[in-house]
Formats: sequence, C-alpha cells, structure tokens
Amino acid sequence: MLPAEIIRKKRDGRKLTKDEISFFVNGYIKGTIPDYQMSAFLMAVYFQGMDFEETTHLTEVMLHSGEIVDLSDIPGVKVDKHSTGGVGDKISLILAPIVASAGVPVPMISGRGLGHTGGTLDKLESIPGFKTNLSIIEYKKVISEIGLVMIGQTQEIAPADKKIYALRDVTATVESIPLISASIMSKKLAEGIDALVLDVKTGNGAFMREYEKAFELAQTLFTIGKNFGKKVIAFITDMNQPLGYAVGNWLEVIESVQCLRGFEVPDLMELTYTLAGAMIMLGEKARSIEDGIKIAKKVIYSGEAYEKFLQLVERQGGDVSFIENPEKYPLPKHSIEVKSMFDGYVYSIDTLEIGLVSVMLGAGRTKVDDLIDPKAGIVLKKKIGDEVQTGEPLAVFYTDKDDVIKTAKERLLKAFKINPEKPIPPKLVKTMIDLEGIKEWK
Ligand code: URA
Repeated sequence: MLPAEIIRKKRDGRKLTKDEISFFVNGYIKGTIPDYQMSAFLMAVYFQGMDFEETTHLTEVMLHSGEIVDLSDIPGVKVDKHSTGGVGDKISLILAPIVASAGVPVPMISGRGLGHTGGTLDKLESIPGFKTNLSIIEYKKVISEIGLVMIGQTQEIAPADKKIYALRDVTATVESIPLISASIMSKKLAEGIDALVLDVKTGNGAFMREYEKAFELAQTLFTIGKNFGKKVIAFITDMNQPLGYAVGNWLEVIESVQCLRGFEVPDLMELTYTLAGAMIMLGEKARSIEDGIKIAKKVIYSGEAYEKFLQLVERQGGDVSFIENPEKYPLPKHSIEVKSMFDGYVYSIDTLEIGLVSVMLGAGRTKVDDLIDPKAGIVLKKKIGDEVQTGEPLAVFYTDKDDVIKTAKERLLKAFKINPEKPIPPKLVKTMIDLEGIKEWK
C-alpha cells in the first residue's frame, strides 16, 4: 500500500477499507508515515468525512494502538463521563466524587485544555502537589482503594490518539465528527469502563456550534460505545454561556469545592445532577435517572461527596489544606472589573471569546508546551437573563500579565450583549439518547 494512494482515495471522497486505515494509523505510530502525510490525510477526512463503518474501524485501530486496561477484578459497574469540551466546564470535579460516594466506581482519564476550552487535568494540577501522571498500576490501585481516580492519558492508553490529537490541534482538523468520535471513544474504551455518559456540547462555546452537528456527534459516539458492548447514555447540552461563573483553573476548583460543600450554582448543579443521575443508574445503584439524582443530592447534602473529593486529592498527592482554606493560595497580580455601559438584561454571551480571553490571561495554552498560570481567569458576575445597571460589573478578570489588561477589558465588554428586553435563557439539557431512543429532556 502507498500512503499517497490512501490520501488520494479519501481526498476524492471514496471509502477506505479497515486494512487501509490500519496501515495508515499504524504506519504513523511506527514513524514510517511522516507528519506531513498524516496532516494531509486528516485534512482529507475533515473535508470528505468518513461513514460509520470507517469511523468504527478508525476507533478500533486507535484503541488497539495501546493497552486496554482490565478493571474486571474491581467489583461494581465502572462508569465514566466524557464532555466534548466547553468553557467553565468543571463538572467532572464535582460529578466524579458524587458518583463514587454513591458506590459507583469512577475511573476517569481526562484531557488538558484545548483551544478555547479548559481541561480537567489542568484544573486538578492547579491544586498544589496533585499528580495526574499515574502509571496504569497506580491507577488501578487508587480506584480499588477509594472508588475513584482521575488521571491524564498515558503512553500506554490509545497512543495513536495522543500523537494524532497533537497534530490535529495544529492543523485545524479538530472539528470533524469521525475524528472526534474515534479520538474520544478509543480513549474511553481503553480505560476499563463498563458504561459511559457523554455530554455533547452545542452552542457558541462548543466545537460543534450547531445543534444538528452536535446531534450527529452524539449519535455516532453513542452507537460506537453500544457496538463495543458498553452501556451508554448521551446528552446534548447547551454551551451558549460558560457553565457556572468561574473560568480558569484554580478559580474553577474553588467553585467546584463550593458546590461540593452544598452551595448551589444553578446551571452547574442542574447539569451535574443530571449526569450524576445517569451515571448512578448505569452503575446499578438507582432504578432510574430521577432516583440517581435524588442519591446525588443526598451525598452532597450529607458531605460525603466533599469528603470523597478530599480523599482523592490526598491520595493523588495534593495538599488538602488549600482545598479547606483556599485563601492560602497565592493571589494574582491584577484583579480587574469589567463594567456594563448600559442598563438592561444580558441577552447573549460570546462564550468562545470568554474562553479565548481566559487563554490570553494565562489560563490556557497557545502552544503545547506553554505554561499555565493556575490563578488566571475570569469570574462572571452576570449570566444570560440577568438584569444589569450601567456601571455594574459584568465580570472580574485575574492575571499576572501587565500587557493584556486593556485588550482583555475591551474584548470581555464586547462579549456581553446587553438588550432592553429580558431574554429567555437557553435550555441547558436539551436531548438524551439511550437504548430506548431519542428524548427531549424535560
Ligand atoms: N476531545 C477529545 O478527546 N478528542 C477530540 O477530538 C475532541 C475533544
């Protein structure tokens, strides 16, 4: 087989065989296919797409590029959650301890911030001492001891995804349904789970802005998971404004800890409880999602979920005293308010722009090896539908950088659209896909 022939075939919109996909991906891993040919291949897939069969083959080849973790000696139905990426999405930090407290083991392999979206790993690593680079042996040890583990992708788990993903990030080939599906599912299928809850984002802060595209992605992810013998539920949820108020790593840890201690941030906890309900049901600790939601609320109010989070931080090397006394954390050099120039209601928020400004403040990377400033970020003071007076703060941003303040202020101000009429806030949980079919979420 010739790599250029396979690229040409896809470029011309023809279907690839499993052998061709396998030859290409494995050649790339071995180094016999260089970055420039893989880049051309990815761009061909971006424009021509792949049908479901090709996407399944790609997932399978990527899955088998590494180890498939066996957690069968750990009792219980192991359940994970995956989000396709958003702004202010700190759900995993609250959700995983809730579900583990309900008795469902949660083995979670998370990613880093990507483009304008944040990553669970960067948030966890903002806790002084917290280690996310555990070996597979250590990963299994932690989950068997405390029923919960949160790590990053290792060299052993879907290495093909790790290598291809880095290339996609710099070749503008991220927003492709077959490539996203194979990337997510190869990692998830390798981590040893029995069941998976998917949170597919749609809206102006999501990779799939249009609902139809998010729906197609959710269906593809759901069907791949099901065909690989996993129990899966997929939700399509809104990303037309950041989740909660905090955007930025340590800021998001603080907001998550507040929620774990029972402080209700409405949109954040609505989505957390929905996903938790589904995970607890799939983990066979509740008969329905509604029952699962009740259990999730109970473990928040009893303090068990917070205790579980402390246990996780301690077990993975983090300094718990920063969680218990967040005021110990170093302060950013600048804390700047962005004030409204009008009276009215917040009509819309440019979520992509909020994510990009947070990266500029130091909360994300523009290159793979950039260092993150865990203190940097934005705290929204108003969300869609909130009333605002002239001079009232819309947001506060935090940074150590002197040279970004003016631009950040201007860009954040523009990201909020203020109108005289009160808008209807977007519906947060839109659709659910499970074995029974597609349901509009009530
Ligand atoms: N998250 C992933 O893990 N992979 C993608 O391609 C996009 C989001």
